[in-house]
Amino acid sequence: MSRATRTDTQSPAPQVADSHDLIRVHGARVNNLKDLSVELPKRRLTVFTGVSGSGKSSLVFGTIAAESQRLINETYSAFVQGFMPTLARPEVDVLDGLTTAIIVDQERMGGDARSTVGTATDANAMLRILFSRLGKPHIGSPQAFSFNVASISGAGAVTLERAGRTVKERRSFSITGGMCPRCEGRGTVSDFDLSQLYDDSKSLNEGALTIPGYSVDGWYGRIFSGCGFFDPDKPIRKLTKRELHDLLYKEPTKIKVDGINLTYEGLIPKIQKSMLSKDVDSLQPHIRAFVGRAVTLTACPECGGTRLSEAARSSKIDGINIADACAMQITDLAAWVRGLDEPSVAPLLAALRQTLDSFAEIGLGYLSLDRSSGTLSGGEAQRTKMIRHLGSSLTDVTYVFDEPTIGMHPHDIQRMNNLLRQLRDKGNTVLVVEHKPEAIAIADHVVDLGPGAGHDGGRIVFEGTPADLVAARSTLTGEHLAAYVGS
Ligand SMILES: Nc1ncnc2c1ncn2[C@@H]1O[C@H](COP(=O)(O)OP(=O)(O)OP(=O)(O)O)[C@@H](O)[C@H]1O
Ligand SMILES: [Mg+2]
Ligand SMILES: [Zn+2]
Repeated sequence: MSRATRTDTQSPAPQVADSHDLIRVHGARVNNLKDLSVELPKRRLTVFTGVSGSGKSSLVFGTIAAESQRLINETYSAFVQGFMPTLARPEVDVLDGLTTAIIVDQERMGGDARSTVGTATDANAMLRILFSRLGKPHIGSPQAFSFNVASISGAGAVTLERAGRTVKERRSFSITGGMCPRCEGRGTVSDFDLSQLYDDSKSLNEGALTIPGYSVDGWYGRIFSGCGFFDPDKPIRKLTKRELHDLLYKEPTKIKVDGINLTYEGLIPKIQKSMLSKDVDSLQPHIRAFVGRAVTLTACPECGGTRLSEAARSSKIDGINIADACAMQITDLAAWVRGLDEPSVAPLLAALRQTLDSFAEIGLGYLSLDRSSGTLSGGEAQRTKMIRHLGSSLTDVTYVFDEPTIGMHPHDIQRMNNLLRQLRDKGNTVLVVEHKPEAIAIADHVVDLGPGAGHDGGRIVFEGTPADLVAARSTLTGEHLAAYVGS
């Protein structure tokens, strides 16, 4: 591609800094790529096409995004890098003009049971500020409305240096968070069916426990025999009340077994931490099955499933509290926000409206902000992530999408196209792997890979504008697009 997409025609003395308006790939050989070279215009929307197996992912994800990621990782300290996967440099001779790549994929969101559509975008953060400013009664800062922040207070002696002397002072502090103290912000409480945790006719050493991963041959065996809280050779039904309580509920307690410091904790808090704090859908299947058998989740009786403390729920705007707002369908919430006329928070209201409107634009107006993000489908998750980036003030980022329109109705494809354009117009480079002509048609630049799959692919068979692609009709993609635009 030689047509650099420069727009500043009248500037007399071009700045060197302005010359980096291309991402240049030279000699890429990742997977099936055949020494491929290509130049991509920055701050434009480029769509990558080609039959399945032609090498689109190898170029966009395997080469460009992978190298960007690797270079970013290298900027972290050696200590932090120790926690990151070591990435090999992709097989490519030269890669120039990269910017930070953000991959917006269809991977499920999840992992954390406290993540919702609202917290995964900026919508909840904005609502919290809104309620802390306008809610009556006034209960505190935005974090008083956050179900991820627990209320804590404390007091103690602090030592500080003052005028060359060491002085001790008593200090106290308190943080008002919005987390429901009963369910710790999960919105649900768990009831355990004890018969699913163990066979009470057996002793621990006979393998009474039926919890996946809790075999007595391993660490648990050593902890149970060494802790001294109960007799591991007694059948569980013969344990005293005290012993059974320690087995099931004991608070984390430091113990020493064979000279090693360990922490003992009752089975139920342990299961709560290891299995129930994660989103159910992100668990391995056998663990999910166990949770399904042993644990009944019911809405928390204290907060009614809203995850929020009583104080947070008491503070209202026009009779609506933040939990009500998050439970509304997003389109209804947008209408409610539109009705608020408060000059003191006008910029905040504008930003919130824009975020809520982008949900509707992208066809997700039917969701509510309190929906657990782990329960979103792949396409819904990808679009939710996109909203987060639309709200972001980062620019000059390379966004990489893998078939964002997959499974979408043509009407929604147009909306997705609008969002891709908005991301570009904020000054970002947008790279999209796509098959649908509706999505190809809006590209500034098309790169068609092929001609075939695998060994027969890995080359660029066309690059240029969609109009050129139609005019050339030299490739299968060109034929498809021509049929779509009706020429
Ligand atoms: N990790 C890998 N190791 C070896 N070969 C690979 C690897 N990943 C992909 N390939 C091969 O490289 C070729 C290009 O694959 P690639 O995933 O880039 O295709 P694609 O154009 O993205 O296809 P699709 O539309 O199906 O996603 C294919 O023949 C594929 O089998
Ligand atoms: Mg692919
Ligand atoms: Zn609760």
